[in-house]
Amino acid sequence: MARRWSQQRRQDPFYRAAQREGLRSRAAFKLLELNERYHFLRPGDRVLDLGASPGGWSLIALDAVGPRGEVVSVDVRAFEPLEGGRFVRGRVGDPALRARLGDVLFHVVLSDMSPTISGAYSTDHARSVELVRQAFLLAREVLRKDGTFVAKVFQGDLLEELRQELAPEFRQLVVTKPKASRESSSEMYFLGRGLKSGSDLAPEASRAGPLEARTPGAPSSPRAEGGGP
Ligand SMILES: C[S@@+](CC[C@H](N)C(=O)[O-])C[C@H]1O[C@@H](n2cnc3c(N)ncnc32)[C@H](O)[C@@H]1O
Repeated sequence: MARRWSQQRRQDPFYRAAQREGLRSRAAFKLLELNERYHFLRPGDRVLDLGASPGGWSLIALDAVGPRGEVVSVDVRAFEPLEGGRFVRGRVGDPALRARLGDVLFHVVLSDMSPTISGAYSTDHARSVELVRQAFLLAREVLRKDGTFVAKVFQGDLLEELRQELAPEFRQLVVTKPKASRESSSEMYFLGRGLKSGSDLAPEASRAGPLEARTPGAPSSPRAEGGGP
């Protein structure tokens, strides 16, 4: 079984390309594809990546936002630091996490969080829906008004209820599945654009916030505004 899985993985063109291009994870292609289609990552943006380990999405985001941008990666599992990135080890859902991010507002919040798979489909689906809710609760506090929220969810009977909860919060909400996501996978992505609540105000002085695990090459000054979606 494990052998067949590893053989399938070796034959998977996205896995092979990820290896070849040093992308850390096959998942990186899903973000690349979503961004090529919807253009939500822009130079100078500040991006929060939830469930970031081993860093595939964060690497793509760092490349997209460039030296004027900033990427903050959050996960319960540490990963090898990314040059120019900032890592906060923590659990989304922990009320203390918001303060640890600093007094900053983000242009984009990403969540590729997955629950620990139990094997019972409805349980895993319900947990995945709960992770999106947790990610959105945090996003509502840290996203700029008009910001973008992208979150993975496993398909199931709670999906429509979740869509109805999120839709009124954004100017536009799409539910999409990138080609890089395996046919056999039940994952989908919510992409909410134009957060209706959120704040315009992000005092320049407080932007940098207390940094944790910032690696060499990270931008040390506040981001220029204007790169938002
Ligand atoms: C599919 S992986 C993410 C892959 C990543 N996007 C990449 O491209 O490398 C899902 C991650 O979600 C994390 N995760 C799950 N629940 C979490 C939570 N409540 N808070 C923080 N991270 C969580 C897991 O630790 C795991 O690393």
